Amino acid sequence: MASYSTAVLDDIRAGVDIVDLVGRFVNLRKAGVNWKGLCPFHAEKTPSFMVNPKKGIFHCFGCGVGGDVFGFLMRQDRLSFPEAVRALARTAGVTLPDERGAAEAGDSGREELLRAMELAARFYAESLWGPGGERARAYLTDRGIDLDVARRFQLGYAPEGWESLLTFMKSERVAEDTLVAAGLAVAREHRAGVYDRFRGRLLFAIRDLQGRVVAFGGRAFGDEQPKYLNSPETALYTKGNLLFAADLARESIRTKNRALIVEGYVDCLMAHQHGFTETVAALGTAFTPAQLATLRRYCDEVVTFFDADAAGQKAAERAQELLEPTGHGFAWAVNRSGAFETAGVLRVKVALLPAGHDPDTFLRAAGAAAFAERIASARSLLSYALARTIGDSDTTSPRGRTTAFARVALMLSKVADAEEATALSREAAIRLGVDATQLWIEAQRLANSLRKPAAPVGAASASGPAPSAEDRRLIRLLLLSPPARTTLLPLLEPVDVAHPALREVIEALKRWPALEATALLSTGASEAARHMIAALVVEDGSAEDAASSIEQFQRRLEYLNRRRRVRELSRSIAVAQARDGASTLDGELYAVQRDSARVYELTGGSAQAVDRVVDHSHPTGPEGPQGVQAHE
Ligand code: UTP
Ligand code: MN
Repeated sequence: MASYSTAVLDDIRAGVDIVDLVGRFVNLRKAGVNWKGLCPFHAEKTPSFMVNPKKGIFHCFGCGVGGDVFGFLMRQDRLSFPEAVRALARTAGVTLPDERGAAEAGDSGREELLRAMELAARFYAESLWGPGGERARAYLTDRGIDLDVARRFQLGYAPEGWESLLTFMKSERVAEDTLVAAGLAVAREHRAGVYDRFRGRLLFAIRDLQGRVVAFGGRAFGDEQPKYLNSPETALYTKGNLLFAADLARESIRTKNRALIVEGYVDCLMAHQHGFTETVAALGTAFTPAQLATLRRYCDEVVTFFDADAAGQKAAERAQELLEPTGHGFAWAVNRSGAFETAGVLRVKVALLPAGHDPDTFLRAAGAAAFAERIASARSLLSYALARTIGDSDTTSPRGRTTAFARVALMLSKVADAEEATALSREAAIRLGVDATQLWIEAQRLANSLRKPAAPVGAASASGPAPSAEDRRLIRLLLLSPPARTTLLPLLEPVDVAHPALREVIEALKRWPALEATALLSTGASEAARHMIAALVVEDGSAEDAASSIEQFQRRLEYLNRRRRVRELSRSIAVAQARDGASTLDGELYAVQRDSARVYELTGGSAQAVDRVVDHSHPTGPEGPQGVQAHE
């Protein structure tokens, strides 16, 4: 641990307003001497997270976490103690006595990567504004980007040539390894050495909520492919977790109590340029639950933009993602606010743009007032999805109407926000020509049955809860794509999937990995499994991009496996401990336990379960080795 003197730490505490700090992440309201808000560290609907400005502490009555400004930032941004101290020292304007000592205190190289990114951002910005940046500046003018907006967004230019950044970094004594780890340089294939990743592109700096540069996106000036070249995932950057411009937009999002989410970098710049400073970009076509969870801490409403042609389709897809919890608990595990609540509490609306337009082209063609009008007439995402669900059904036949009714009720049953659910069921009732109350009752009935606990392991009953959409997607991919089988089957354990029939399908796939889906039907599978295979194969899912789906599932399964390994390790330690007693535990074993606890926490689990095993005071305590679950 870095040794900062008590005096220095006190100075920093005195210089940081805890309400201000926490308020950057949590919507706080004054409640007596305290400030109150929704806890950012666990899922809750009523605020039990308190901040006491006088004492400089925070505490959550719901999940029990608490601490001072350092503790808050460490937890919030996953910083080490020295990192939190340094960040807050900057805020407080306190100069730290020994920066070097702190760096040695160990934050596994993150500081070094951050420094490389910061230097790179500076280099690229200087290249843009200096001599040699004419072409990039001409491109900005071409696209109607104001120069002061370009500066505010820290745009840059990566010069042509293979070693521009390298040369600069050499003079700053940044190691090549660091550049590769930061995603700024790429190792040569057939010989030693590295070269610049970004060449001849306009660069967008992607920053985290603290304003630290963690990645870049580079726009080609012409038709070169790819149009945007992005940083790979690094220790600093996980795709789908960050929102572009979140640091710039945060204040505005809080004061306006809404966020605008666009798809592209330029859309985002153009929106800010036209006064819509509450705009962030999702960096890709779909926003993720993790991104929504971040926004939910600052506002109650999110507006997204669809081109009129694609609106129904896109709304249906997004609604599906928002409403379907996954069996793995993964997509939503990163979402601290919990699966259903995101969709419920954070209202997601859709503003329509004319066919063929994105926010950038629309703002330039029609101006800020027209854009504001589109936002004003934005409608609930779920309402679009609902219209689509009804539109897809043949409501002219009684049978079609029954199907539509069931589908709509099912969808409504998943909407957690009661107010929105009521409004939607009224709307749906009118469209379907049924009684709203009847629809509402059916939705309630379904909601109750969805809340029933999962069927016990092994009980292959057909009446269990429906399998999650994610699991269905995964198994469908495995059934239909040979490359998916090669990559994913070794990573997958039947227990990873909750639904018994799906689990059986996995077992069959693992046994007969070369058999076509239809051939699997005659391998002695149970009736439920056969029905499942058939249902998945005939399902007319959208033509999924197999390669990217495989990659996505691969990442998730690897994550699950890591978690499983850590748990197994902890468990065997617990068993050994129970057998031999705590006294025989030597220091080494103890260290292993601590590390496994940390790994477990890093991979997203709570350290508590493992801590219990680590705790020497209860070597064979009431929980015993069973205190650690062997699987999900
Ligand atoms: P679009 O293809 O819709 O581009 O991608 P755009 O934002 O309108 O780009 P301009 O206006 O032609 O410059 C939307 C977003 O998807 C990501 C980028 O974040 C982009 O802004 N994207 C797109 C990539 O990461 N790589 C690509 O090759 C394309
Ligand atoms: Mn565009």
